[in-house]
Amino acid sequence: MNLYKIAVITVSDKGSRGERKDESGPAICEMIESLGEVVSCHMVPDELDLIQELMINLSDIEKVDLILTTGGTGLSPRDNTPEATLAVIERAVPGLAEAMRMESLKKTNRAMLSRAVAGVRRSTLIINLPGSVKAVRECLGVILPVLPHGLEILSGKAGDCGNSGNNGN
Ligand code: MTE
Repeated sequence: MNLYKIAVITVSDKGSRGERKDESGPAICEMIESLGEVVSCHMVPDELDLIQELMINLSDIEKVDLILTTGGTGLSPRDNTPEATLAVIERAVPGLAEAMRMESLKKTNRAMLSRAVAGVRRSTLIINLPGSVKAVRECLGVILPVLPHGLEILSGKAGDCGNSGNNGN
């Protein structure tokens, strides 16, 4: 059921210069097929202002329900995605990034090097994922099962959690 409007942003200097093929953006699109319609896919360099502007436009003008970013969450001086996200969100949703890191640590101790964050701007949920396809698959796999309920609540399609009779497990 294509309930939600989704945008995918790949943040990569090399990708935006055409020096690296984007495999992570397509991997995200494939994984979220059943959650909604990917209405736009973007490739941007690791520029704080550009990432911020794009997120604001997708949220306030395009009114997408979900923005998934990939890349730019690490420790390189050019890794700006969490800062851009923190600058535009109004409410943090720390549990999503906490869960991704917690589960990812079972696979690689390098998971602790991702500074990914998540939060809400207006009625848009914004979630950072790391850059590699492997990391995208592992991290998105962790949060995917709860996204329908999160988006349902955020969009007002569901009133409250208690009535569903389902604790998500
Ligand atoms: N998380 C998972 N699940 N799997 C991974 O392979 N790679 C880590 C981490 N998170 C990884 C992961 C590595 S090596 C880095 S440097 C950080 O994510 C940041 O990645 P980014 O700069 O591409 O966003």
